[in-house]
Amino acid sequence: MAFLLFICIIFSAIHCSLSADDYVYKDYANYSFYRIEGDQSQMKYLSKTLKDQLHEHQLLHFIHKNHAEILVPPNLKTLLHLIIIRKNLKMKIIYNDISEIIREEKQAKLRYRNGLSWTAYYDVDDIHRYLKNMSSTYPQWTETIVGGKSYEGRQILGLRINTPGQDNYTENKPVFFIESGIHAREWIAPAVTTYFINQLLTSSDPKILALRDQFDWRIFPTVNPDGYHYSYVYDRYWRKTRSRSSNGCRGADPNRNWDYNWGQHSTSKDPCDYQLYAGSAPFSEVETRTLAAYISKIDNLLFYVAFHSYASLLLVPYSDSTEHVDNYEDLVQVGKTSLEYGSAVNGNKYDGPGTAAETLYRASGGSMDWVRFKHKTRLVYTYELRGSSFHWPPSRIPEQGDEVTQMMLGLATEARNMGYY
Ligand SMILES: *[C@@H]1O[C@H](CO)[C@@H](O)[C@H](O)[C@H]1NC(C)=O
Ligand SMILES: *[C@@H]1O[C@H](CO)[C@@H](O)[C@H](O)[C@H]1NC(C)=O
Ligand SMILES: *[C@@H]1O[C@H](CO)[C@@H](O)[C@H](O)[C@H]1NC(C)=O
Ligand SMILES: [Zn+2]
Repeated sequence: MAFLLFICIIFSAIHCSLSADDYVYKDYANYSFYRIEGDQSQMKYLSKTLKDQLHEHQLLHFIHKNHAEILVPPNLKTLLHLIIIRKNLKMKIIYNDISEIIREEKQAKLRYRNGLSWTAYYDVDDIHRYLKNMSSTYPQWTETIVGGKSYEGRQILGLRINTPGQDNYTENKPVFFIESGIHAREWIAPAVTTYFINQLLTSSDPKILALRDQFDWRIFPTVNPDGYHYSYVYDRYWRKTRSRSSNGCRGADPNRNWDYNWGQHSTSKDPCDYQLYAGSAPFSEVETRTLAAYISKIDNLLFYVAFHSYASLLLVPYSDSTEHVDNYEDLVQVGKTSLEYGSAVNGNKYDGPGTAAETLYRASGGSMDWVRFKHKTRLVYTYELRGSSFHWPPSRIPEQGDEVTQMMLGLATEARNMGYY
């Protein structure tokens, strides 16, 4: 292992990838996942106190409006319990030992074999194999597209689907863009995205076929391929890119790195911040910079949709302001129809649509805001998929895949009713 790493450092110019087994998978033994209720100032105090005890501030915490979820290492549990008593907070343990979940998930991993199963999570190379196979299976109207590149030299690979439809019309269709997996650990996002691709390509439902034929689709399942791979083979909770800062810490949050109000809300200036480092400058990350350049070349961009997890929530721009965009009412109406279509599948309800500033917290430098601001794209959405942690059971990927498929159909249907295309 040490020898292999050494070889990789020497030859890092040629892309060197270790296989999953070469890494010692970070096991998170005896880490517990807590839900703690209290207001934002109490949550900030709590996370700061715990963070100060940690090397490189590697605390995982998700602060919501009236509660927080925190992944606590075994050596900090006593301190956590003390704070909870002192501040009179309510707590609930969601997972006592998160390593059990990580181990089960690891056992359920599969390698690509003539396709994806959608009952397992796959590494980025396998997702790319799938996209390439789809472009050679349907060569007349699909092609792989390169939306950019990563720090470690991977492609941001996507699939374009542009059928001639019933009237041989492929020119100047409205573009429907899907960006997924910008946060590495949100594995369900790339999984439902390839599931959706499969629906577009193989469904026999006339409504899905009509949905497919109406748009020029540009779908990117993993726009942070280095981060996703690192999360897949080493650190399950990795969120950022893998770029190297001058002080040696790795990665920036690619959804805080876009050039719109960069660095203002819910971001960190500390390159060692495990979650929210915004990067050294707007578009410091090659992934966001190259993807933005790709997006800028698209004429006729109508829909921009990003998939994240987890919160069961639909967000509209802007994420760092409570002011509403000019077609906010339309965005809400189209979004509501999308959520109705989605909940008709399994009865699961999402919150929203609304701005992140109103429903979650203010966050600056995200892709959705940049796309809306820079390109005035009319229909721009971020879906926070379902779950109560980043671990959605792989056997249940189709459940959310079917919901997402209907949610996309709902978006298109209502937008068409309202004359957007
Ligand atoms: C985890 O907890 C168990 C039970 O308390 C203990 O036996 C074990 O040594 C712990 N493992 C680690 C790595 O802390
Ligand atoms: C490509 O996909 C087709 C259709 O799903 C499948 O039959 C075929 O085995 C796949 N080939 C490869 C090399 O993955
Ligand atoms: C579509 O194009 C094909 C091939 O160019 C042609 O044979 C067919 O008649 C066209 N159909 C329509 C509806 O224009
Ligand atoms: Zn996310």
